[in-house]
Amino acid sequence: MTGPAAAGVLEPGDVWAYLVARGLAPDGSSGTVREVGDGNMNRVFVAVPAGATRGLAVKQAPPWIRALGPSAPMSPERAMVEARALATFARFAPEQTPRVLDVDPGRFAFTMEDLSDLTVLRTALVDGAGFGDTSRQVGDLVGRVTFATSAAGATAADRAALLAASVNPVLAAVTEQYLLSEPFGASDANRHHPLLDAEVAALRADPAVRTEVSALRWAFASRAEALVHGDLHSGSVMVGERDGAAVVRVIDPEFAVVGPIGLDLGLYLANALVAAARSAALGDRAEAADRAGQAAVLWEAFTAAWQAGWPGRADRFLDDAWLSRQLASVWDDTLGFAAVEMVRRVAGYSHAADLETLPDPGPASAVVLRAARALLLDRPAFGDPAAVAALVR
Ligand SMILES: Nc1ncnc2c1ncn2[C@@H]1O[C@H](COP(=O)(O)OP(=O)(O)OP(=O)(O)O)[C@@H](O)[C@H]1O
Ligand SMILES: [Mg+2]
Repeated sequence: MTGPAAAGVLEPGDVWAYLVARGLAPDGSSGTVREVGDGNMNRVFVAVPAGATRGLAVKQAPPWIRALGPSAPMSPERAMVEARALATFARFAPEQTPRVLDVDPGRFAFTMEDLSDLTVLRTALVDGAGFGDTSRQVGDLVGRVTFATSAAGATAADRAALLAASVNPVLAAVTEQYLLSEPFGASDANRHHPLLDAEVAALRADPAVRTEVSALRWAFASRAEALVHGDLHSGSVMVGERDGAAVVRVIDPEFAVVGPIGLDLGLYLANALVAAARSAALGDRAEAADRAGQAAVLWEAFTAAWQAGWPGRADRFLDDAWLSRQLASVWDDTLGFAAVEMVRRVAGYSHAADLETLPDPGPASAVVLRAARALLLDRPAFGDPAAVAALVR
């Protein structure tokens, strides 16, 4: 890109000089630069010094949507939202958060740990890998961050500061559109496999579905429970091994808002169920059971983090019976947000590679759609993770 619209937007050839100017590399440094970002929204460059195996990653938000170019403007402020969220995540869940070395508000960019040795979880699952320790670590991160940023874990003054610093109207609107409305109506952006024609039409015409999605929209827009990642699907988790130990990093919190805690758990759970539907379609029942079983692993790690924080809570008035009620409410929200995410992945705009790369995505997509509808309309039947796992097995 050239011209005034591209002012400040980095190209691969600028990255080393940029790192030197930011004090992140010595004068005269050079090496390779690869654009690794295959995402829709932003650019990610990895710069590796000559002779080294790992380097630094620079993520920049251009003032438009990367995949569409300057004809689709979008505020680059999202990079600063992401950098602020990463700072909060690093405070409460340092193990699972990429290390950020520099934040540059002038260029809407930040520089972080190079994660090129890791793999995006969705890609790993499509390639047949197991979840390993991932769901436990993600549940732990969501538990720690949401407890610490909730009215239970944080003082009123800290909560007020968090709320003021976490407004994210641009990306909240994207969630309301692509997750919480369009998949449930007639939008040109939607698509689905022809096998699902009748069931998609029935779902969209069902007033009970409309009411449940309305309740989730309301929760998203008004229930400021804790800082949530906002886009915690299997494309936002990178996994691998370093020195023989499992490594999990949760990336890309540009959708972060103070919102309902069940959103993050629901998005992750939905994508584990989508992965399970893939395994089942490929005839691997053991793998399908293992993937569906991630619901329990996620939930146990999440609740363990809340239980661990609870004795040191900031609001001593809150009692144990309230905690049980609150966790039950988060579980209910988790099921609801999982359901809308599953609908989005088979009947909305953004489909999942887990299903799209099957020889015929139709039957597995139908399983996902039926499971989503059951979760949406009959949540009391899914009082625990085992009941959810049975849906796609
Ligand atoms: N620190 C990093 N080190 C190495 N590779 C990375 C790093 N961060 C991101 N990536 C790679 O870049 C890809 C895009 O990153 P990310 O999801 O953060 O960008 P995005 O443009 O916001 O994506 P989306 O359009 O999905 O929102 C990731 O899927 C991953 O492959
Ligand atoms: Mg993103």
